[in-house]
Amino acid sequence: MKQLRVMIFAMVGMALSTSAFAVGDIQAGKEKATACAACHGVDGVSASPMFPTIAGQHADYMLHTLRGYQSGQRNNPVMAGSVAGLSDEDMVNLAAYFASLDGLKTLKK
Ligand code: HEC
Repeated sequence: MKQLRVMIFAMVGMALSTSAFAVGDIQAGKEKATACAACHGVDGVSASPMFPTIAGQHADYMLHTLRGYQSGQRNNPVMAGSVAGLSDEDMVNLAAYFASLDGLKTLKK
């Protein structure tokens, strides 16, 4: 019995970790991203300091933020509205798309 429980925990853990690092569909993400361009700029490079540049962001970080806006864990009314209608798969795909773009680079001294 105890062994079974340990096995179930291990399987749930594996399922969760694969979904957290799921490889998204870049093309599907690109199609969804038209809704983001008004604020985050075409190709995710923002023209205004009011909106963060999201091109080139790491996919796992970006997915974490999107899930946070949707759950309310990260509280922002503007972004909550933007992710309200998205499925988790949409967010995985959006993260994959923006991560595939060139974004801000860290300058080497
Ligand atoms: C109406 C304007 C608007 C739209 C449309 C919008 N965003 Fe945002 N977005 C913002 C603002 C403002 C912030 C900063 C919110 C904060 O301070 O948490 C933000 C933050 C983010 C962040 C967090 C950036 C970081 O570095 O933490 C991500 C990721 C993001 N948006 C992705 C998207 C995606 C993907 C879409 C399209 C589905 C989208 N946004 C649509 C305005 C918008």
